[in-house]
Amino acid sequence: MKTSRRKFLQKSALFTAGAGMLSTASWSHPYISPNEKINVGLIGCRSQGFYVLREFLQTGSVNCLGICDVDQQVLEEKAAALKNDFQQLPKLYRDFRKMLEDKAIDAVIIGTPDHWHCLQTVYSCQAGKDVYVEKPLANSIGECNLMLEAARRYNRIVQVGQQQRSSPVWKGAMEYIQAGHIGKLRKANIWANFHYGIGARKQPDEPVPAGVDFDLWLGPAPERSFNPARFHGNWRHFWDYGGGLMTDWGVHLLDMALWAKEDMTEPEQVMAYGSNLSFEEYSRETYDTMSVIFPKKDYVINWEHAAGHQTGPYDMSYGIAFVGDKATVVADRGDWTVKTGDSKETEGFMTLAKDYKKQSSWSDVGNHVRDFLSSVKSRESPSCSVEVGRNVALYAHMANIAVRSGEGSLSWDVGRQSFTNSKAGDSLIMSPYRESWRLSSV
Ligand SMILES: NC(=O)c1ccc[n+]([C@@H]2O[C@H](COP(=O)([O-])OP(=O)(O)OC[C@H]3O[C@@H](n4cnc5c(N)ncnc54)[C@H](O)[C@@H]3O)[C@@H](O)[C@H]2O)c1
Repeated sequence: MKTSRRKFLQKSALFTAGAGMLSTASWSHPYISPNEKINVGLIGCRSQGFYVLREFLQTGSVNCLGICDVDQQVLEEKAAALKNDFQQLPKLYRDFRKMLEDKAIDAVIIGTPDHWHCLQTVYSCQAGKDVYVEKPLANSIGECNLMLEAARRYNRIVQVGQQQRSSPVWKGAMEYIQAGHIGKLRKANIWANFHYGIGARKQPDEPVPAGVDFDLWLGPAPERSFNPARFHGNWRHFWDYGGGLMTDWGVHLLDMALWAKEDMTEPEQVMAYGSNLSFEEYSRETYDTMSVIFPKKDYVINWEHAAGHQTGPYDMSYGIAFVGDKATVVADRGDWTVKTGDSKETEGFMTLAKDYKKQSSWSDVGNHVRDFLSSVKSRESPSCSVEVGRNVALYAHMANIAVRSGEGSLSWDVGRQSFTNSKAGDSLIMSPYRESWRLSSV
């Protein structure tokens, strides 16, 4: 016999009381029938979160019951767009904990900056909601581990916003590689060069804009003055809120390198160089320049980025070259191709590749959203589960930690979930939380 969601919750006591925590778990939708519409709420509305919500609504199988943001202007703009474009009239919230009290909401989309993902996912799971959380899974390894545990304990579907996992283009490339057409896959060379990786121009601190609850924007992160160069969109270049290009794009592309090998193992070693070498008039803590090696048993993953410009190998600003014994597959989100260095030989590989090329009338995010919605109903694992999102986030975070700790090279003890050789590295495993938002241990 199935345990009801409410009973299950009563049995589990994941987090003991913390000031920010929901006092009771609410759970009103034990089962959703295949024909029933799914009720969603969005936390963090400005850019990606709202884009994802639009994809949810475009499926025609979703109602939006609530949207939440700490910036009143963002909230009102998005509410007007939802009314105009989708005839949706969600309730508006400033505090996500209030929205989670709505028992009619089945699933929550989390589109906040990375430093919020863990708390909001954990609280959503506790409240009995399924979760579509943007990538990277969290802003630290310790938070990723807590989220995995929460999803499992509360038996929730958690889809991580690495939409490549639902992309027909990448699926085709993976099937082609895994069928052995390029021979043994030995190496993945990844590059991600983007202008935005240098951050915004340096500017003086300002008063907090009217209508913004900046303390709730900071949440678990340390108290800090308000500066537009660390706020909307620009937060990703500061360690308290994000991990720079290494995590922003790292989790997308490292995930593809792992998928090609069907590898779900944690990184055991990382060697990394990172520095801020250019664009001093721009504001950031994360590195504009990085080169990283992840050695695996029979495979090596190389990562590199140079922010502030936007070109790279094969004239692509980002991509992956999957190097096999016989040929190399070069891929980005739009397409993939095969290179051999010999035009006649290449023709043969490309003819074969045609059978693996797939297209979709939906965007990658649209496909990813549909995959999530189908998991919410079937209770099957989604294409980018919390396990997949956690595993790749460990790679990206470890690269940053290798540099931030000053070690350059680190080894990871999978059993102990700590570094084998570095107290400085260990000190960066968990984000520091402000007392009022501190997570109790599991
Ligand atoms: N999957 C992708 O391709 C992709 C693309 C872009 C961004 N992202 C991810 O999406 C997330 C959001 O990025 P963005 O570029 O949209 O950031 P953004 O700064 O543009 O928007 C974040 C929004 O969250 C709001 N917010 C902050 N704290 C909040 C809180 N406690 N409660 C409610 N709202 C809060 C902010 O006010 C803002 O409106 C990040 O994790 C990012 O990595 C993913």
